[in-house]
Amino acid sequence: MDNRAAQQRIGQIRQQIVQEIDDKDQKLEYAQLWAGFYKKTLQQRLDQLNKIQNVNVEHFKDGGLSLQNANLMVENCIGKIGMPLGLGLNFLINGQYYIIPMAIEEPSVIAAASAAAKTIAECGNGFETYSTRPVMMGQIQLLNVENYSKAECLIDSNKVSIINRGNQACANMVKRGGGIEDVKLRQLGEGQASVDIFINVCDSMGANIVNTVLEHLAPLVEEITGHQVGIKILTNLCLNRKVTSLFRLNIEKMSYKNYTGQQVASMILNAYKFAELDYFRAVTHNKGILNGIEAVCNATGQDGRAVNASLHGYACLNGKYKPLSKYWIEGNEFIGELTIPISVGTQGGVISQNPLYQAVLQILEYPDSQRLAEIMACVGLAQNFAALRALTVEGIQKGHMSLHAKNIAISVGVPEHQVEDAVLFMKNRGSFRKETAKEFLKAYHLFQEIGKVKGKKNQSLCTFSAQFQLEGSQEKVELHVVFDCHSNKRIDVDFLSKSEISIKLFGSKSHTWFQHLFKIINKVKIEEESESLPKKGLTVKLKVISILINLLSYNLLIIDYEKTRNYLNYVLNQQHIDFPDGEIEFKYGIALLTELLHIFEYNIQQFIGEQVLKNALLNEQNLIIKSHLNSFELWQRAKLDKEFQIGNFWLYRKKRLSCTMMLLCDCINFKTIDEKLVELMKQLGDVYEIEITLTRDTEKWKDATLKDPNIYTYWLMQHDQLLQGDRNCVLDQFKNESSAMLEMKRQRIQPLLPSSMAHLSKQATTAVSLLYQSRF
Ligand code: HMG
Repeated sequence: MDNRAAQQRIGQIRQQIVQEIDDKDQKLEYAQLWAGFYKKTLQQRLDQLNKIQNVNVEHFKDGGLSLQNANLMVENCIGKIGMPLGLGLNFLINGQYYIIPMAIEEPSVIAAASAAAKTIAECGNGFETYSTRPVMMGQIQLLNVENYSKAECLIDSNKVSIINRGNQACANMVKRGGGIEDVKLRQLGEGQASVDIFINVCDSMGANIVNTVLEHLAPLVEEITGHQVGIKILTNLCLNRKVTSLFRLNIEKMSYKNYTGQQVASMILNAYKFAELDYFRAVTHNKGILNGIEAVCNATGQDGRAVNASLHGYACLNGKYKPLSKYWIEGNEFIGELTIPISVGTQGGVISQNPLYQAVLQILEYPDSQRLAEIMACVGLAQNFAALRALTVEGIQKGHMSLHAKNIAISVGVPEHQVEDAVLFMKNRGSFRKETAKEFLKAYHLFQEIGKVKGKKNQSLCTFSAQFQLEGSQEKVELHVVFDCHSNKRIDVDFLSKSEISIKLFGSKSHTWFQHLFKIINKVKIEEESESLPKKGLTVKLKVISILINLLSYNLLIIDYEKTRNYLNYVLNQQHIDFPDGEIEFKYGIALLTELLHIFEYNIQQFIGEQVLKNALLNEQNLIIKSHLNSFELWQRAKLDKEFQIGNFWLYRKKRLSCTMMLLCDCINFKTIDEKLVELMKQLGDVYEIEITLTRDTEKWKDATLKDPNIYTYWLMQHDQLLQGDRNCVLDQFKNESSAMLEMKRQRIQPLLPSSMAHLSKQATTAVSLLYQSRF
């Protein structure tokens, strides 16, 4: 681009910025849409992105790259590695707002870039950017050069034929408007020279095409110069592919955390000067810039090593390593600028090998390579500005460490739903160390310190842990729950331990029984459609938590019916109720139940997108507990008042088997989830629940007492035949009545099931016949 054309483009950009920024509504609308995005759940963020940008967010959940493609991409492949992907927000670039995907393992980078971009949009007009065309330079090494002038003259006079020959190797690039633009010889001394080939690589990063052209040209260069050719390779220092990002801030408006705009501006200038004067500092200053740039490289499938090499090369171009950004004051404006040589592409490379990159480019509104480079420069500059502002105003650790605290908590095994509490704990302690996170986990004196139960003394948190290697599932499920059971005594229960309290709360056979129950109901699963491992993990986890809730609420009703009923009625209606008093085991059970309900809901809200399934799962969980309450009540009325409602007792009793819940959890893996599917699963679950309850309660009847609810016992009581229950004719009568109801439900559902699921209505029969020696 000649000087006049460049000036014209700069003028256009400025005009565009002023025009678009004048549109105050745009800023307002953007702020309303994205403010507080980080406070939303992961699922809410994905939903918002999907809704606003119409992006297929599925790829973001599993990293997009298939194992097969990974295996084709590198040698000795053994898998893939994950990295968090987030959104840099508030970037107003040349008058247009951008949402910028950033992939990075380091906490606080995305927050910092977004925070700085917000200041830059609000206290100025956002970023202005300028860039040169995507011209890369390749080098052909010439050896044994004796006469440089002659060699230079030969290259120069044969320029046209070199260009023509080279363009044959990149004919498609030429068609797109690219190709070789210039050829020059540079003297290096000691008999060596570099024939520099300048190639417009359009929207590619350029490495492949440049190297292809160089290898194609080498024999011609050898022929023209008569000198031996050495290596042929592009240079990553792409001085002809530069980009500049610049912002201007009204100094008055730059105030930050109790410091005036003047103070902030002057402190940042001092910090910048430090980097100018000292190359130790300059390296770290530039690392901050790369935090932002590399995160966008990772998210868009760029060769980050090439970018890094180029930036560091440029930083010491004049023999001394310098900061890449510049800051200065002009009148009442504070100005930041970053100019860097950067080679990135939006076509070719690994972009086509992973659909995730396409989705990321869609979020960026499919930029060309020049625009992508401009975006990266803005993120680098924002990141640098944020770091300098934080360093000068409050020190880097405050913001950085409070965000890093999440990683620390996760690394010591704090369960995900309690990470926020652990971070708060560490913040309050002013210590972001593993030891502190472990203390949280052990729950020593935590609640007094974070103020949740202010005023109470000597309370400590209780813990519950469980590990299941479930039969019929390859997943290992681990649960670690920390909770307050409103007692001075701390209790730690391991589900496997067969301790007294565990037996009381989960039943006498505890772990074996759990495995047994899980085995039955796991047989009534529907095969998943999705291969997404994270979803499979979630399915099993939700199933396990739900069964634990089921067992616990049932046993708590046996331990103290009145108090449990009272408490659960309030909790299920989301009303406040004081924590019930009682024996420590009871209090432990109630507190654990409350926490498990919380974990169950947390996982659903965070990780399940479809509202219809979310509602169905949460409603079903409530229904299971309400059914326990109702079946206990009907049981008491039958026992004490001889008042019978067999239809309703069936309705509530069968819920103990959780089959509908298991089927709904399986739905998580379905690609399409709608009301029809959910309704079908409910009907199918109903059939399973009736069949298994029928088998189970008649099998168990041998030992049945009036203590535990049982459908056969209930029917016998109603027919005044309690003592005749083991007679075949009585059992047959019960069987006939119940089977008729079951058959009717089965007939109703059969035509609704798609052919691929036709076998499902009989699946429960197979499952129970494997586990019980059926009496029917
Ligand atoms: P703050 O100003 O307190 O943030 O900064 P705020 O609460 O006022 O929020 C402002 C905006 O920031 C929010 O807008 C968000 O966009 C974003 P809103 O949504 O409210 O409209 N934001 C967040 N985004 C996601 N998650 C969050 C979050 N919080 C705010 N949790 C901040 C807080 C941490 C950003 C600030 O302290 C900061 O900029 N710290 C610098 C952190 C940093 O640079 N980290 C990089 C790692 S350190 C390093 O490697 C580089 C270094 O060595 C380089 C050098 O030496 O130069 C430092």
